[in-house]
Amino acid sequence: MGRLIVVSNRVSVPGNGAPPGGLAVGVLAALRRPEGGIWFGWSGNVSDTPAPDPEVREKDGIRFMTIDLPSVHFNGYYNGFCNSTLWPLHHYFPGAFRYDESEFEAYVAINRHFAEALLKIIQEGDVIWIHDYHLIPLGGLLRQAKVSSPIGFFLHIPYPNIAVLRLLPTYAELVRDLCQYDLVGFQTAEDLDGFYSALEAVFPEGKMRKDQEHVELNGRTIKVGVYPIGVDVDVIARQAEQAIRDDEQVKRLRQGLLERKLLLGVDRLDYSKGLVERFSSYRALLETNPELQGKITFIQIAPLSRTNVAAYVEIRDALERAAGHTNGQFSDTDWTPVRYLNKDFSHQTLSGFLRIANVGVVTPVRDGMNLVAKEFVAAQDPEDPGALVLSKLAGAAYELTGALLINPYDKNAVARALKQALAMPLAERRERHETNLKALRANSIARWHESFVARLVA
Ligand code: F6P
Repeated sequence: MGRLIVVSNRVSVPGNGAPPGGLAVGVLAALRRPEGGIWFGWSGNVSDTPAPDPEVREKDGIRFMTIDLPSVHFNGYYNGFCNSTLWPLHHYFPGAFRYDESEFEAYVAINRHFAEALLKIIQEGDVIWIHDYHLIPLGGLLRQAKVSSPIGFFLHIPYPNIAVLRLLPTYAELVRDLCQYDLVGFQTAEDLDGFYSALEAVFPEGKMRKDQEHVELNGRTIKVGVYPIGVDVDVIARQAEQAIRDDEQVKRLRQGLLERKLLLGVDRLDYSKGLVERFSSYRALLETNPELQGKITFIQIAPLSRTNVAAYVEIRDALERAAGHTNGQFSDTDWTPVRYLNKDFSHQTLSGFLRIANVGVVTPVRDGMNLVAKEFVAAQDPEDPGALVLSKLAGAAYELTGALLINPYDKNAVARALKQALAMPLAERRERHETNLKALRANSIARWHESFVARLVA
């Protein structure tokens, strides 16, 4: 196989700190191959006159190529169509969804900008793997420019059913764009079903044939499949062990707990993560179980994200109110029930935090996969593991059947699950942890990228 070129909006450029989200973890793993690879994407900067050629950096055999994006289109692309249209649509949030034709045009324009820069570096024999909702039209634009390489696409977020997708006036164009790829991958079978529901709406019967692995459209075959993204269990386990030994922030957190049990949530500050609902469930837990007051601490780490999008400003305000409300109602001179931090930590420190947590609280109201749930499992001490409370509406729930699975909208049921997790006997925690660990090993990060790329080039 030739060079692998991975393309995504964000690039984890060495030295710039870890970007948020699971995409970076997966892409880096995919590129750590003996023959090396290229990660191509946005530099994080906008410019009135972006340089025509990418900036190149190299580390451990991976070449990081980044481009500035034209300022004239950036806002419409990123804050507009990507994160005020596609993100809420794909996460089933019609309330936060808006459509603006000029933002769709900006989205297409930025995809063209990506295509033009990529065309300068693509060589015969390259394999191209495009990631996520920012870049759906890119494969088709490369095809129009006669790129003959295999081009794959993986969607990290959910794919909605047509009943929701059709809120978007331009949905059919984006469905046609996905059909330009050789392989289209999704996190779960539900997402693939959503894509099929869209295909049925866009292509009149008779012109399309499909099974669970292929779609045939006007004589062209598109491979499709489910590729649940995973984690590197051994790396996280090692990191977590080292962090509890050596990391000062982990030590400080542990000392500060004063033997209280720790419930921990780690999420980008996003309305899809169900944080407001989570905070009210925690409040219900304290209300209905007064004996727990003063005995437990809930830490929610939520680094800010997409701060120029209105829905994110609103969710931040709502969470500040919710945390203040709970702390005002229950705090004592020597106890704060909720510690809410808009702060980011290194991956290593976070894995240490996850390891010392008694309960992992992962309750998104919708999530493509949720790697925090998987990292929580990987970071546990198998001899004395914590318990995981996980939303049924996260992709990870299809695999982590050893978790206490809840509906995040059901406040009292979540409160009961938190209580059950806090009191879970060691034998049950071990058994559930083993079930989850088996699932992680079966769908490892290596399996994710190896099977996707192998199928793309087959
Ligand atoms: O997983 C979805 C995703 O959009 C990734 O593409 C991205 O790395 C992460 O969420 C963070 O989002 P943003 O790049 O908008 O900060």
